[in-house]
Amino acid sequence: MLDTIEALHTEGLETLRAVEQPAQLPEWYRTYLGRKGKLTEALRGLGALPADQRPAAGKRVNEVKEALQAAFDAHQDALKAAELEASLATGAVDITLPGRPVAPGHLHLSTRTLRRIREIFAEMGFQVYEAPQVETDENNFGLLNIPPYHPARDMWDTFWVDDQVVLRTHTSPGQIRCMREHHPAPIRVILPGKCYRYEQITPRSEHQFFQVEGLAVGHGIRFTDLIGTLRAFTRKMYGEARRIRIRGSYFPFTEPSVELDMDCMLCGGSGCRVCKHTGWLEVAGAGMVHPVVLANGGYDPAEWSGFAFGMGLERPAMLHHRIEDIRYFYNNDLRFLQQF
Ligand code: FA5
Repeated sequence: MLDTIEALHTEGLETLRAVEQPAQLPEWYRTYLGRKGKLTEALRGLGALPADQRPAAGKRVNEVKEALQAAFDAHQDALKAAELEASLATGAVDITLPGRPVAPGHLHLSTRTLRRIREIFAEMGFQVYEAPQVETDENNFGLLNIPPYHPARDMWDTFWVDDQVVLRTHTSPGQIRCMREHHPAPIRVILPGKCYRYEQITPRSEHQFFQVEGLAVGHGIRFTDLIGTLRAFTRKMYGEARRIRIRGSYFPFTEPSVELDMDCMLCGGSGCRVCKHTGWLEVAGAGMVHPVVLANGGYDPAEWSGFAFGMGLERPAMLHHRIEDIRYFYNNDLRFLQQF
């Protein structure tokens, strides 16, 4: 019996030395030290020994078991340490290599266009007035001379928050806020920002888009001031050679009301696909501030006059950069964004 135990000791140590992968360790453990392992079997065999030999054999079996357990623990630690060392060696960081450059982002096309517009109007002495995107029905419509049930409300498809609150359909309600805040001082501001309309989304129409509103209120402000301002803007924005034309139009909050077009920056007015072969592109709706609106803002129309205009941001940018679908502005596709 003692011979068998010694043989098991030697065999166990030898086979353990041959284990090179941590994954093989459980198998070795089962074979020698597990519940059905060889040493457990040997322990069970003790009962068959004559009584006088049992204590010595039992003692030895336990010694061998402890020795094999200690050898197993040491071998397991050694294999783990070797594994860690190998992974550190292969994954080592070479600090002498140049670092990987971090790709810098850049501003969105809408933001850049907006900044350029702000810059141009700043040169002409216009400040920026920020107004909220969630507006009262009164500011968005009523005080702009569009009372409830007025047919002009059909011009703006609206997202209603409740009966009295809307997502603003244009930046024009900011005119009322600005006038009420600043009267009786003269005003020269632009009001840039997001607008929302309950629209069918198409390549030309989004339910969210930017507008830039302009408002000047003062003594003796005339229609020619409006035209001069818009002409200076289009030339700075789209090139010194640009020509503009004015067409009669209708907005309830301006009188007279006009649409401003400029000659197509792509074909120079000779006609192309972008300008639908007309030679002209629409830039802004505009006009002289309606007396009712001036009064609603706190200015006496007998003394004060003013002009206002409102232009979209995405549609002119689409024409300028030949972007065929307005949805690209909002769907965050890097392949689009990286082009600008
Ligand atoms: C207005 O919103 C007037 N408030 C403009 C104005 C201001 C006139 C001050 C007079 C005085 P209009 O609905 O035409 O006007 O919109 C102006 C511009 O917003 C359009 O020319 C277009 O460029 C842009 N726009 C309107 N709806 C959309 C839309 N669904 N998607 C993208 N751009 C739009």
